[in-house]
Amino acid sequence: MNHALELHQITKRFGATQILRGIDLSIGRGERHALIGPNGAGKSTLFDVISGRTQASSGRVVLNGADVSGMAPHRVSRHGLARSFQTTSVFAGLPVVDNLRCAVLGAPSARGIDRWLRSRAIDREADRILDAIGLAARRDELAASLSYAEQRALDLGIALATRAPVLLLDEPTAGMNRAESARALALIRSTTEGRTLLIVEHDMEAVFGIAERISVLVRGRVIATGTPAQIRANRVVRDAYLGDEALP
Ligand SMILES: Nc1ncnc2c1ncn2[C@@H]1O[C@H](COP(=O)(O)OP(=O)(O)OP(=O)(O)O)[C@@H](O)[C@H]1O
Ligand SMILES: [Mg+2]
Repeated sequence: MNHALELHQITKRFGATQILRGIDLSIGRGERHALIGPNGAGKSTLFDVISGRTQASSGRVVLNGADVSGMAPHRVSRHGLARSFQTTSVFAGLPVVDNLRCAVLGAPSARGIDRWLRSRAIDREADRILDAIGLAARRDELAASLSYAEQRALDLGIALATRAPVLLLDEPTAGMNRAESARALALIRSTTEGRTLLIVEHDMEAVFGIAERISVLVRGRVIATGTPAQIRANRVVRDAYLGDEALP
């Protein structure tokens, strides 16, 4: 079993509208894979299907060798998946560090009553992630007081804290300025080392900088999968999505 994630002929219909039209995709362990495509192509819907937030109309999702098709999100996450949403979803009313503590507590390997006995370990892990995401100085402030970019960094930290080997990040730099975006991407690159990453991102410089392979989703179909160089050279992709001047 070499793949962290396999999608087999995924389709999704909302009423009469077909959003996903037979998606096949395999992502290797430790691979960084970007999913790109125009607005409304179905990228977030595909993330919803993978993470169990919505059910596919047909097709199979295999995560770390287990068929997780149709499972509820909490069960999918036990098979080693964490996701961040297109919009920030931190607990605004909790201190920054407690957002991370909650995520560490919910981690698959920290289950059971002894989780409470190991709270020092949980603190240490939360502080380690705080350092990694550059928020150590904001540790005890409410998450609500963070800037937008800092909340997105915390979002990433929450996904990391679950220790899930497979991460789905949906537009982690959306709404950031260039400097914030560059910082966030450097952070993602360094903190996700060794994990499998599927990232939706509109910033092409970021995509071509971070991804080992890229898939292009257009109107519910993957029209191309390949290395950044292959995608850059793909005429169909340029015509359907990238254009010529958008490329870094
Ligand atoms: N619950 C729903 N009911 C009906 N239609 C939906 C639902 N969720 C999404 N859609 C439609 O599915 C299509 C794909 O949406 P989706 O959010 O997956 O696109 P996306 O590729 O993530 O776009 P963006 O780049 O703008 O985030 C859109 O036309 C959207 O309106
Ligand atoms: Mg989306």
